[in-house]
Amino acid sequence: MSALDGRAQTVRIALVMVGLPARGKTHMARRVARYLRWLGVRTRVFNVGNYRRQEIGSHQPAAFFDPDNPEGKAARRRMAMRALDDMLEWFASGGEVGLYDATNTTRARRETIAARVRAHGLEIVFVESVCEDERVIESNIRQTKLHMPDYAGVASDAAVADFRARIAHYERAYEPVQEDEGSFVRVIDVGRKLVAHRIQGYLPSRLVYFLMNLHVEPRSIWLTRHGQSTFNVEDRVGGDPPLSPAGRAFAASLAAHVRASGVTPRVWTSTLARTRETAAPLGLPSEEWRALDEIDAGDCDELTYADIRSRMPAEHAARRDNKLTYRYPRGESYLDVIRRLEPVILELERERRPVLVIAHQAVLRALYAYLMDRAPDEVPYLPVPLHTVIELTPITYGCEERRVPLEPGPA
Ligand code: F6P
Repeated sequence: MSALDGRAQTVRIALVMVGLPARGKTHMARRVARYLRWLGVRTRVFNVGNYRRQEIGSHQPAAFFDPDNPEGKAARRRMAMRALDDMLEWFASGGEVGLYDATNTTRARRETIAARVRAHGLEIVFVESVCEDERVIESNIRQTKLHMPDYAGVASDAAVADFRARIAHYERAYEPVQEDEGSFVRVIDVGRKLVAHRIQGYLPSRLVYFLMNLHVEPRSIWLTRHGQSTFNVEDRVGGDPPLSPAGRAFAASLAAHVRASGVTPRVWTSTLARTRETAAPLGLPSEEWRALDEIDAGDCDELTYADIRSRMPAEHAARRDNKLTYRYPRGESYLDVIRRLEPVILELERERRPVLVIAHQAVLRALYAYLMDRAPDEVPYLPVPLHTVIELTPITYGCEERRVPLEPGPA
């Protein structure tokens, strides 16, 4: 299943990363992959560094990366070609977007890759990461590189020195991507500036937009459902009911919890009363998103699950059998929800302050899947209980999760 279902063309694109070490290429590749996978595009990252570590061990000194070291150069080329072979094989078996994560800093290397990729009938777009901000490089080395298996057991100052020597070797051979090499996106200082050259088509354009919004500053994202509504009490779907007494008590507890955390988040709610009522005791400005409204149950709106089962057994069975793609009559499917959440995701990526999202079960399942890189077919079943704050804090290549169940306080 692909997000591009319904669109005539088949998309098969190799996104080839380019850039010196410690320029955030892996971070970018993984974030792009997570985004595309969430949209239902069959996406995979091929990291050449992992091939090197698996095949010749992780403890290679900086001299291994010296462009004048013929053995090192041959070994690196061999690993690069192995990863490329695997990626091409994966495309042949139905892959849609492959991210080829390596430095690819010489024109000769890129030409070899491009020739093979094009010979397989695939599009190629180079994604080059350039960092002019020394602080970004330093923090990238300290936050990610020192934790690589390459430096296990090495004192941090020695590891930094070795990694800087490795970068210097690459710098000597580096040739930035030129306009005559084809389509590329050049990201400078993690989104401060972005150059898009010969970017055409739906998916590459979306990629540019995504990269424009990406940043690497860690900040937390908290997700919670609204407090219990009167419909939750009756097991009724949809509608626009108010909070129950227990739901109002949760809203009070949530406000106390947020105040105690010392964090002042941006607060996002849906347009529905139950999320706005949950946000009210926070006393913070909040923004309403129509895109955060609960899955539209169409003709089943305001029915109980038991009503649906007895009055519309075929609908009940169809949903049970394929909850991801099932669309309520005149309503939505989970896939529809995922697609309409895309602007929310882009705004979440762009935002640098902590965000508290107060929304609904189906919507939060979809957001959680994005943030935690869970497959689309898991989305309809992810547990997102009432009265629980899911606190997500970014770590190197993902998010750390803490679930805080809140007792309803005094109503
Ligand atoms: O039951 C509460 C609710 O938010 C409904 O409004 C919505 O239809 C439902 O959850 C979504 O969960 P599921 O997809 O499991 O029915």
